[in-house]
Amino acid sequence: MKVKELKIVFSEEQIRRRVAELAAEIDALYGDEPLVAVCVLKGACIFFADLVRALKKPNIELDFVRLSSYGMEDASTRTVTFKKDVDIALQGRHVLIVEDIIDTGHTMDFLLRQFAARGAKSLRLAALVDKRERREVDVTTDFAGFALDTGFIVGYGLDYAERYRQLPAVYEIIPE
Ligand code: PRP
Repeated sequence: MKVKELKIVFSEEQIRRRVAELAAEIDALYGDEPLVAVCVLKGACIFFADLVRALKKPNIELDFVRLSSYGMEDASTRTVTFKKDVDIALQGRHVLIVEDIIDTGHTMDFLLRQFAARGAKSLRLAALVDKRERREVDVTTDFAGFALDTGFIVGYGLDYAERYRQLPAVYEIIPE
């Protein structure tokens, strides 16, 4: 795909406001309970950094996973594996997964099943963008930033061939 231009989808200001709202919801839901927040690298890194800093609760531990998927063209053969797992034992912990985008749903379906099997006390998902157009597996997003129907988006952590992650807002790629 040759990129003709980038068209703004969610501005810095929109994102800042939405992240603050999500953080307030998360603070209200967990109250004083200790929380493990898990960032799904690489795409969620910027959303994660902003979200955890917007939380008021003091008792939060941060951890990171990196996943890779194979066979993306054919959902029936799609396999997701850990490239990097969390260091923290999740048994008996409140766990909040922080993801940049839910697309087909396969990545989060895998991670939620994995973490559920470890006996987390609760397991919830925060995602900046809930993109439903290509959804193949049902995934419940507890804290969803924005819903999006169509478009290949980049920026604020999201990439196209490892480019554009550093952009402070979210853009749609308009191809030539
Ligand atoms: C992207 C995104 C999600 C996943 C969503 O990750 O960050 O993790 O795809 O897709 P799905 O709902 O269809 O499974 P990617 O594999 O591109 O890695 P990255 O986060 O390092 O960019």
